[in-house]
Amino acid sequence: MAKRERDIIFVHGFPLDSSMWEEQVKFFKKKYRTFAPDLPGFGKNFLQTPDSIKGFANYLKSFIDENKIKDAILCGFSMGGYITFAFYEMFPQSVSGLIFSDTRASSDDKEVKRNRDIAIHNLEKEGVSFFVENMPKKLLWEDSLLNLNLLKKVKGIIAIQKIDAIRNALIAMRDRKDRSYILKSIVVPTLFVCGEYDTLSPPEEMKSLSKMVVGSKFQTISRSGHLAPMENPKEFNQKIEEFLANI
Ligand code: MLT
Repeated sequence: MAKRERDIIFVHGFPLDSSMWEEQVKFFKKKYRTFAPDLPGFGKNFLQTPDSIKGFANYLKSFIDENKIKDAILCGFSMGGYITFAFYEMFPQSVSGLIFSDTRASSDDKEVKRNRDIAIHNLEKEGVSFFVENMPKKLLWEDSLLNLNLLKKVKGIIAIQKIDAIRNALIAMRDRKDRSYILKSIVVPTLFVCGEYDTLSPPEEMKSLSKMVVGSKFQTISRSGHLAPMENPKEFNQKIEEFLANI
């Protein structure tokens, strides 16, 4: 099958790496040029992790330039969504479509900022194992937690991340600015997708973001919490494919 002249970049969340997109890369590479970079300091990327979301967006721009990617469609999951909002703010001309998965446009409120500081403290005290033990129950819906293969995979991805990368990403997320104002300026086709049981970026909140982007679509992913791309990859891929086929 001939590949469409379309480049998709999947931007991973925290504290994960590009392997969270395994099922998406397998599926979309049959049709499109598909990229899933490890962000600096995560996975197999040994660059210094930026301590700002803008720093991550600048990395993404250099990745796009190096790979001669034109008119990218960015698909950002959670922290990857924060980066995608910043990227669109900084380089709108480099983007031809946007997919936001389980993410938010606003900044952290006081309580979440405090929780980031507590997380940094726990990271320094207990190391990455603190995140291996505590993140899965935030990322996964209760039924997904019973899927031992999935649980093992998610824990395995978190376990190999580096302390410095986790710390800097926590700082970057804690200090990020509210980018809700960007929603009204988005002029490229945009899709919002959210796991139906996501408690970190709930569907109602994502739906309200979608209402602010002219012509955008909102879709929920059934039987998923926050980590919808891994919890229900089949439905996630199908919703994205429908969106791509119509733009
Ligand atoms: C993520 O999944 O990337 C993180 O949960 C986002 C966050 O902590 O705000």
